[in-house]
Amino acid sequence: GKEKTLAMIKPDGLLGNYTDEVKNVIINSGFIIFKEMILQLDEDRAASFYAEHSLKSFFPNLIKYMTSGPVLVMILEKENAVADWRALIGPTDSKKAKITHPHSIRALCGIDSGKNCVHGSDSPQSAQREISFFFQEESAGQAVIQH
Ligand code: CMP
Repeated sequence: GKEKTLAMIKPDGLLGNYTDEVKNVIINSGFIIFKEMILQLDEDRAASFYAEHSLKSFFPNLIKYMTSGPVLVMILEKENAVADWRALIGPTDSKKAKITHPHSIRALCGIDSGKNCVHGSDSPQSAQREISFFFQEESAGQAVIQH
C-alpha cells in the first residue's frame, strides 16, 4: 500500500535555488507531496532531530550547517516511498554520488558528505518518528482511541 516518508531540502539546497528542480524530480518520480513546510531549525531542535549522531565527530558541523538557514520539510507519499526516496537521493557523500549515481538528487545539488542538499528517512520507523517530529498532527497513522 501507500507509504509516507520524510524528505527535507537542507539549507544549501534552498539557498542554491534547487527547490523547483528537486520538486520536479519528486513529482516526475511518482511521489505526491502530501504536506510541506519551510522552517528554521534552532540548535536544540536540530540536535534533537539528529540525536542518533550526537557522538559523531561531524555532529557540531552538522548542527551548524542545519541551522545556517531555512529548510523545506515534506511528507512524500507513494508505494515504497521510504526506500524509493532514499534511492532517488543517492549516497550520503555527494562527491561520490556525482560519480556513482550521476542521476541522483545529491549529484544534482549536493557538495560533499556534510552539505548533501537533501534528507530522507532511512526506514519506515524513522519515517514515523521524523514525520511526527515536524508535523504534530500526523501521528503517522496511529489513531488515538477515545473512551
Ligand atoms: P544524512 O545522511 O541525511 O543524515 C546525517 C547527516 O550527517 C548527513 O546527511 C550529513 O549531512 C551529515 N554527515 C554525515 N557524514 C558526515 C561526514 N563525514 N562529515 C560531515 N557531515 C556528515
